[in-house]
Amino acid sequence: MALRNIFLQNEPSLRKICKDVTSFDIMLGQLFDDMHETLALACGVGLAGNQIGILRNICILHDGSTRLEFVNPKIIRMEGEAIDTESCLSCPGEYGKVKRPQMVEVAAFDRNGKPFSLVLKDLDARIICHETDHLQGRLFKDIAFDLQKVS
Ligand code: NI
Repeated sequence: MALRNIFLQNEPSLRKICKDVTSFDIMLGQLFDDMHETLALACGVGLAGNQIGILRNICILHDGSTRLEFVNPKIIRMEGEAIDTESCLSCPGEYGKVKRPQMVEVAAFDRNGKPFSLVLKDLDARIICHETDHLQGRLFKDIAFDLQKVS
């Protein structure tokens, strides 16, 4: 495993739309392992491929001891609304309130190419929405209000 650099918001890759993964090979597994290590060290809760310069449609989520991986994630259902504070490893020191669904259902593939779907609520729903936004080249601050910068 290896740590990856987390790109900051001025990097062009953060504004790119990531391409679907078509090859579920050993490199993909290594990439996920690296992403988990990188995210854990950064004490973050989510990481998308383009945040480490990989323009592939992949992201991960850490919520306590729960570690989830998504390849080609698509939000297929959303319910409710919740407003809460968000930040982003690519935008250090910036915080803002973002309205997200309270619940989402996500369809994706695992690292071996097996399809699955998962219902996520509250913080986990917020994280996966934040990460799928990244994969579309969007940052939370694009849609945040009460944006604050702490230096
Ligand atoms: Ni982020």
